[in-house]
Amino acid sequence: MSKKKDELNQRDTIDNTKKAPLTTNQGLPVSEDEFSLKAGERGPTLMEDFHFREKMTHFDHERIPERVVHARGFGFHGEFEVYESLEKYTKAKFLTEPGKKTPVFVRFSTVAGSRGSMDIPRDVRGFATKFYTEEGNYDLVGNNMPVFFMQDAIKFPDFVHAVKPEPHNEMPQAASAHNTFWDYVSMNTESAHMVMWLMSDRAIPRSFNMMEGFGVHTFRLVNAEGKSHFVKFHWKPKDGMHSVLWDEAQIINGKNIDFNRQTMWENVEKGIPAEFELGLQIIPEEDEFKMDFDILDPTKLWPEEDVPVQIVGKMTLNQNVDNVFAETEQVAFHPGSVVPGIDFTNDPLLQGRLFSYTDTQLIRLGGPNFHQLPINRPLCPFSNNQRDGYGQMSIHKGQTSYHINQMNDNQPEPASAEDGGYEHYHEKVEGRKVQARSDSFKDHFSQAKLFLNSLSKHEKQHLYDAFSFELGKCDMEIRNQVISELINYIDRDLTEYVADKVGAELPDEVNESTYEKSSPALSMTNTNFSL
Ligand code: HEM
Repeated sequence: MSKKKDELNQRDTIDNTKKAPLTTNQGLPVSEDEFSLKAGERGPTLMEDFHFREKMTHFDHERIPERVVHARGFGFHGEFEVYESLEKYTKAKFLTEPGKKTPVFVRFSTVAGSRGSMDIPRDVRGFATKFYTEEGNYDLVGNNMPVFFMQDAIKFPDFVHAVKPEPHNEMPQAASAHNTFWDYVSMNTESAHMVMWLMSDRAIPRSFNMMEGFGVHTFRLVNAEGKSHFVKFHWKPKDGMHSVLWDEAQIINGKNIDFNRQTMWENVEKGIPAEFELGLQIIPEEDEFKMDFDILDPTKLWPEEDVPVQIVGKMTLNQNVDNVFAETEQVAFHPGSVVPGIDFTNDPLLQGRLFSYTDTQLIRLGGPNFHQLPINRPLCPFSNNQRDGYGQMSIHKGQTSYHINQMNDNQPEPASAEDGGYEHYHEKVEGRKVQARSDSFKDHFSQAKLFLNSLSKHEKQHLYDAFSFELGKCDMEIRNQVISELINYIDRDLTEYVADKVGAELPDEVNESTYEKSSPALSMTNTNFSL
């Protein structure tokens, strides 16, 4: 059993499988749980029936808000082991001590649907991992696609409003099948590359253990000497990648909306774990500008032919949760939870995410103490001067709760970097305050084209048919807009096929040299990394 699971079981479980006397929350044994207290057998219920009131009040408050995105998810416990020390790149202890097993909790999710929606819509999948390391919790909050819809976090609320059910009639649940989604992406062509992934078979994975995971952003690894490398994180499934066909997906969703969660839950119950290898793509800091795109742009991937993925460790998911609400629903991931040796970059999407997660969890999990919930609590000790607040679960002893003081010798003290204290990477930053985007983020179509060209014949056909199916659900005005403003800049053959299938107008061919939206074809010929 994983160490975290073990801890949850020992310290925090109320074991409802064993017969125990029924009591109120105050521990008072209850003598009657079938009938409320009444004034006469046929009379009104009395306010003084405290057991009835407590039972009903707690029930009335059972629901918490679902996540604003990624509402439907399912979690598993397991462990991670690094193959060889990565001390060349990072001082993170869980990545530098081969053989050390770090407990993990992973929540797989869909993005757009509500908590009760189906498992196999055409959608991105979340792949969020919490490593309970000895230096604190590290969260790798990724997706099953390597790029994202936008370059700057300020667009995220607009995008999510466009993919969620429309406000006037709460329809449709399926994100990729409605006017607002297609309107948004045709007006925001930086999403072109991600839309190609979304229309591909990657958007309908057969099983959680048959999909890749990606950290998406460019992060930073920092070693003990303070040297920094840029890094992209990957999860590679040991069972390979498999998708369902769209026709299969529709049948499965019609018959069993729990298909993905049920398959993996049953496998784990039978002792069949899900295994993923951790992969790193690494670019030394001095090579930041060697690509002909900006490596901080989250709509771009680093081609694996140019920056190979190094496999560095393995994650094994082998334990089901005991209680979905307590664990899967209450878990709080945050891209800002890092450990010494892992740091951020100036990717403007990542920077915005660093604000959003704690902010949403403060309301979703009812106040500032959700880090004390069993699933979120680090396995290593933690102490600071924070106090009080809704849902306080700890009893902090001592007279003082401020730094610096001489009243009490039991105060948490900051540690130096040498003693394991987190030190932010000393990146040099200067510039004018501007609300703008660097010109190096302007290329919207090169990698969308590359992606299409990388597909096999049948994968391409699936993508062509996905565009036609989804767009075919939209109003004619939107079909025309998407074909002329988005697809036509990606591929002419795709444009002609989809226009024909959905009965839209065929726009003139784009002349790349005259249209500002088009971008130079991606070329990797000048890359020569100094690794
Ligand atoms: C969940 C915001 C981009 C992966 C969430 C949640 C919010 C959010 C508010 C709900 C968290 C909760 O209730 O606990 C944002 C913003 C983004 C962004 C503002 C861009 C500016 C991304 C990207 C990825 C991602 C690029 C993938 C790399 C996830 C995952 C979850 C999630 C996996 C679900 C975590 C779980 O299972 O609890 N996001 N997100 N998000 N996000 Fe993002």
